[in-house]
Amino acid sequence: MDRTTTPARVALTGEIATTPRPLAAYRDMFLLDDEQLRGGPVLDCPAGASPFGAQVRALGGTAVSVDPAYLDPDGLVTRARADVERVVAWQRAAPDGFDWSYLGSPDRVHDLWTGAVDEFAADFALDDNRYVAATLPELPFPDGHFALTVSGFLLFVYPDLLDLDAHRAAIVELARVTRGEVRVFPLHDTTGMPYRQLDRLRSCLHDSGVSTAIRTAACSYTPLPGGDRMLVCRSRGGLASRR
Ligand SMILES: C[S@@+](CC[C@H](N)C(=O)[O-])C[C@H]1O[C@@H](n2cnc3c(N)ncnc32)[C@H](O)[C@@H]1O
Repeated sequence: MDRTTTPARVALTGEIATTPRPLAAYRDMFLLDDEQLRGGPVLDCPAGASPFGAQVRALGGTAVSVDPAYLDPDGLVTRARADVERVVAWQRAAPDGFDWSYLGSPDRVHDLWTGAVDEFAADFALDDNRYVAATLPELPFPDGHFALTVSGFLLFVYPDLLDLDAHRAAIVELARVTRGEVRVFPLHDTTGMPYRQLDRLRSCLHDSGVSTAIRTAACSYTPLPGGDRMLVCRSRGGLASRR
């Protein structure tokens, strides 16, 4: 099998899942240490049902979680619990498609994520402060508001739903509101295949005032090459604009 052109698994079908990866997973995806987490404010977008914000605050940091799923606050936790079942069922159906050396097993993901949704549910309340309902590429924050932004499992993961320009606009907006780095992980879709237009996107971002670099993360969710890659983006001197 050619592991650079053959998907690792079938795509996850249905709506974009609202998942609850906890802080430990964010540390591995985005190479975060306590100093960065306490030195915020940190933006998590999309945050989904992740308890990352609550867990950063428990460390003494400041974090803002942003996701359009917060537009339905009453249905959110029920939806997140259903999405845990849907994603884990998909993993169980295609066990060869995942990097279990990192994830452990579907049962482990199920236990970790169920606990993470519980932690999220105990902390969540729409308050325009810790949890903000918003949709990329428009965020309700001033330029350079955040010291660091993390963006996991939306960009690059759904290339059939978000085209190249949607990716460019989303990253430009994340860079606009961030004075430090915007870290995006992973760089592959739900089949595990690397994002095909990455070079072109990086060129468009450069033209929009955003510098980019690839860094190696501490985890991978696919057995295909490149599963551990993260895109690091930064506005060049406040040049990132919505254009
Ligand atoms: C797979 S979850 C990722 C959550 C979390 N970062 C994690 O890794 O567990 C993807 C999230 O993207 C959100 N989303 C979908 N379209 C979006 C958009 N245009 N802007 C921001 N978030 C969006 C969905 O509501 C969903 O909660």
